[in-house]
Amino acid sequence: MTRPVPVLSDYDISPSHGFLALETPALRHPYYAKWEEVVRDLDALLQAKKLRHTIGHLPVLSTDYLETPAEWRRAYVCLTFMLNGYVWGEEKPEHRIPPPLTVPLLKVCRHWELPPIATYAGLCLWNHQHPVQGLPCPQPEDLVVSCTFTGTADEQWFYLISVAFEVQGAPVIPLMLDAIAAARTCNTVQVTRSLQRFAQHLEALTSLVDRMHERCDPKIFYHRIRPFLAGSKALGSGGLVYVDGATPPEAGRRYAGGSNAQSSLIQFLDLVLGIAHPSSSSSSSSCSSTGDSGFIADMRAYMPGPHRRFLEHVAQIANIRAFVEERGDALSELRAAYNACIDGMCVMRNVHLRMVARYIITPSRIAGADAQQQQQQRGDSSVAPLPASPQQKTVRGTGGTELIPFLSQIRNKTSRSRLPAVASARSRPPWITEPAARRGAARLSREKNQLATPVWLPPRIAWVDGGGGLHYYLLVLTASMAATVLVVVGYRTLEPNVSGF
Ligand code: HEM
Repeated sequence: MTRPVPVLSDYDISPSHGFLALETPALRHPYYAKWEEVVRDLDALLQAKKLRHTIGHLPVLSTDYLETPAEWRRAYVCLTFMLNGYVWGEEKPEHRIPPPLTVPLLKVCRHWELPPIATYAGLCLWNHQHPVQGLPCPQPEDLVVSCTFTGTADEQWFYLISVAFEVQGAPVIPLMLDAIAAARTCNTVQVTRSLQRFAQHLEALTSLVDRMHERCDPKIFYHRIRPFLAGSKALGSGGLVYVDGATPPEAGRRYAGGSNAQSSLIQFLDLVLGIAHPSSSSSSSSCSSTGDSGFIADMRAYMPGPHRRFLEHVAQIANIRAFVEERGDALSELRAAYNACIDGMCVMRNVHLRMVARYIITPSRIAGADAQQQQQQRGDSSVAPLPASPQQKTVRGTGGTELIPFLSQIRNKTSRSRLPAVASARSRPPWITEPAARRGAARLSREKNQLATPVWLPPRIAWVDGGGGLHYYLLVLTASMAATVLVVVGYRTLEPNVSGF
């Protein structure tokens, strides 16, 4: 039997703010005052290298006074900020987590079905102070973050882009669940309209991601913020040992660091469009060349339990792609709307790739070159020479991936999800803005060879044409001419903006 379309409230999701918690205020119970104090002074304690000492001397608090979901969320935020600060806050990372952190943290994590490490939920979803309700389309500057490691505006902005992303993207969730229901009743018009609106939302979301550079300096991100986001996998084979003071310490645990790959919203966008990523690395038989096969699926373990189950539910009922394949021929508005969403996801991933180059690759190369220069100036032959070229050293994401090959692979997978369609020579559809249409043209330019080859044409075109012959080739010719025009426009205007990886 087909599962019903999920009801959002069953999964701790809201139609207006999605996966984001509406508010996670500071813990008011005086019993937890010490946690709030440490978190309030986190940057100062870290700068003074006093955080480990302070946490080591905290009392071991119970979770008995946490009552509301908001309080349980806030406890997770406080404890994971303290944890990552404790581990990464001094020159040498600390592997052993003391009982004042271990005992409450493991309980809070069991409550949320989250791992005991800083995740996207604690860093972004639950880490903003001001209620976002009431604002029709909150921008990052309208919001305030409650905890940071560094106290910098850059770190606030880094989280706030994601918070705004979650709230601006939230309407897509009910929109596309309704589209799934509409596809079940073969309501092509509604599915088409929903996909068109989805494509518009993607444009706005991409513009938001592109605002990262406005207030987050790549050097501050790379050298000051990013080290605190690392997971215990970055500690090598040992991992983190959580000491509870009562039982013999267990073996070290290894977790990935905080990453936007843990955003349920972005996984929802892929799922609903039928963009498939490899299943969990533990169950995956095929391993990608980057060794990161299954990473996206693995990231579900870093989402709060209800959100993870929501995605599992959606995966079982996602029908939009199949519906478009079945009902939308290559010329249809339905297929154009579907492909506009795929293109939108590609453009968003390209913007993200550029950002990763700017915020990780470039600063890591500069740091490598500086270190090399210092080594040469010292004439230090006692230490091993640094790699001759930065490429020799693999830069990894906080989630632990070999980042550029991994992200490019995901982007390519997204673009391959496009369904074959014939480019229309007519003007752009009214629901797509001009920049998006130009980006589409640039994409088309890359597909020019495919488009000019009759083999590329799907069987449906032959069906439309009554089985082939002259019309078939006229159709190919028209499509090729349209593509050539778009190719020229695309190469002239856009190619430098969307490529690069
Ligand atoms: C300075 C800003 C950012 C940097 C340096 C960055 C870096 C990375 C890296 C290295 C990965 C690979 C996985 C890992 O190892 O962690 C990743 C994955 C990902 N990031 Fe970002 N990220 C940034 C901001 C964002 C923002 C603002 C969003 C969206 C709101 C985002 C969405 C994603 C997604 C969805 C993935 C999973 C791969 C995919 O689905 O394409 N990132 N990011």
